[in-house]
Amino acid sequence: MATNLLELDNLNAFYADSHVLHDVSLALAPGKVLALLGRNGAGKSTCISAIAGFVPPRSGRVLLAGIDLARSTPEQISRAGIGLVPQGRRIFGSLSVRENLLVASRKHTPAGRRCWTCDDVHAMFPRLRERQHQLAASLSGGEQQMLAIGRALMTNPSVLLMDEPSEGLAPQIVREVGDVLEQLKSQIAILLVEQNLGLAMKVADDVVLLNTGRVVFAGSNADFRQQQAQLQSHLGIT
Ligand SMILES: Nc1ncnc2c1ncn2[C@@H]1O[C@H](COP(=O)(O)OP(=O)(O)O)[C@@H](O)[C@H]1O
Ligand SMILES: [Mg+2]
Repeated sequence: MATNLLELDNLNAFYADSHVLHDVSLALAPGKVLALLGRNGAGKSTCISAIAGFVPPRSGRVLLAGIDLARSTPEQISRAGIGLVPQGRRIFGSLSVRENLLVASRKHTPAGRRCWTCDDVHAMFPRLRERQHQLAASLSGGEQQMLAIGRALMTNPSVLLMDEPSEGLAPQIVREVGDVLEQLKSQIAILLVEQNLGLAMKVADDVVLLNTGRVVFAGSNADFRQQQAQLQSHLGIT
């Protein structure tokens, strides 16, 4: 019986001959937030891309509820229940806010996973309801981030991968992103890549720290705080 929803087991990933992820293992339990930290270039986004199937791992396993997805396509991985909020948001600027949500929506989702509608997303992000007929390109940075999260929720995920959701946002909006993460974590397990250490430590149950593609710390939020002084050199953030 798998107690972890998502598990990486000795994952190795490459860009051509460049070996970027070295035996990365981590575990995410239901209802938890796992912060994936590390300085620029540490391999955080590559790890997210490897899980989502965009950088297929050369070896190792990506287990979702015990099933290995390491050789599945991004589409299969998304359907299996892994939602992605990519770094830089990557919303479709020339589509309306509503169309951005609808392109991601799923007709069929296995029992046990919440089915999200546009109304559900609007309840979480009221500004998206107000702006649903506007082009997504006309949204503010914060609104675009809300849309990127909403679009990922429309795929009815059991695990959400979020790559630097606070990047480039004003402090007030970063707090709003934090509130949204708190709301979501009761329903969805979240793997959160963050450069904003304050936000990460506010919401994370556990922490994995990468340095040059290797795990240099894995433990609870409290353990991380206790060892933070020694780990600071791997963070590259304050
Ligand atoms: N598409 C790519 N092709 C080749 N190398 C890449 C590519 N994307 C990232 N890298 C390299 O892989 C390493 C990890 O990058 P990345 O996963 O983006 O780090 P992070 O998200 O932690 O900043 C870096 O050395 C980076 O230069
Ligand atoms: Mg990155």
